[in-house]
Amino acid sequence: MKKLIIVGLLFALTLACAACGSAPARAMSEPDAAPGQLSADAPAPETEEESDSAGALSEQTPASTVLFAYFSATGTTRGVAEKIAALTGADLAEIVPVQPYTSEDLNYHDRTTRASAEQDELSVRPEIAADIPLAGYTTVYLGYPIWWGQAPRILSTFVEGHDFTGITVIPFCTSGSSDIGQSDDTLAAQAGSGTWLQGRRFPGDVPEDELRAWIHETGGIGMEKTLHLYINDAELAVDWEDNETVGALIELVSSGPLTVQMSMYGGFEQVGSLGASLPRNDSQTTTQAGDIVLYAGDQIVVFYGSNTWAYTRLGRITGKSAAELADLLGSGGVALTLSGE
Ligand SMILES: Cc1cc2nc3c(=O)[nH]c(=O)nc-3n(C[C@H](O)[C@H](O)[C@H](O)COP(=O)(O)O)c2cc1C
Repeated sequence: MKKLIIVGLLFALTLACAACGSAPARAMSEPDAAPGQLSADAPAPETEEESDSAGALSEQTPASTVLFAYFSATGTTRGVAEKIAALTGADLAEIVPVQPYTSEDLNYHDRTTRASAEQDELSVRPEIAADIPLAGYTTVYLGYPIWWGQAPRILSTFVEGHDFTGITVIPFCTSGSSDIGQSDDTLAAQAGSGTWLQGRRFPGDVPEDELRAWIHETGGIGMEKTLHLYINDAELAVDWEDNETVGALIELVSSGPLTVQMSMYGGFEQVGSLGASLPRNDSQTTTQAGDIVLYAGDQIVVFYGSNTWAYTRLGRITGKSAAELADLLGSGGVALTLSGE
């Protein structure tokens, strides 16, 4: 509550300045406060159009185990959520208020208008038009705009109305300039269930690369395209590691398949250059037939025998015996193709 008052004071100062005909509120704001310094942020206005979101929510059967659920009053958070959905193929669901927010409701130059007044009252819970069922989801990214340094109260309605047990929740927000502050912690406390990761703030025009990096950081590679491996055009089943290196490999082939000319080495492996360095986390490893590793940061190695060296594990070919792998890989160079589909 203390925080809200401080943010309110800063916001009021900002508005007072705007009323004097000086630079817009954005100019009054700190660029980006460090996490936990919410109260130092002053909000900055963005174009506020009337929300056209009513009715946009539909019941869905999870096609993915990852859901991006978001509330957006003026379209900025929606834009970021849609970009991520396009990148990942994850499900997208909008938290739609029963009573949509009009431009007047969102006018924070008047502290008595709806959105501002709601933020002044911790117990307000705006009603949500349609439930967003979470059954089947293991990860829920939760997006919202920052209103007076906090998540809009409708997010409290949402998190209090769901059981997040067994679900990892990753908050994200958009704002004029404020960071996510403690809004993520507050929502986690209100939810009372689930594993909540630290949230992240994005500007409305966040570049795709930054979103991709964040998805990888937050462990979301499972919802990305699946990595396929072919040897001489025949696809092999692979159990890929869930690590940063495989995430980078997926990204490497996201713009198109990559074919690596491999050559035999040592009577136990096929090795070839990826043409790019990937993040490495080498550890001394004794490999077995079928293991796929990264060697020296930029070479992919597929084993049909065994060796002991410092590698970063990428995955393991499944469904082929050591003898079958020796037949496939032990009689001359092969073409290895990786693609993300
Ligand atoms: C009532 C209200 C309060 C706001 N408070 C802040 C704030 O404290 N800090 C800030 O940087 N932006 C603030 N903003 C700006 C929004 O966070 C920003 O425009 C956001 O990207 C809008 O997202 P949306 O289009 O998805 O609703 C506020 C906007 C409104 C309507």
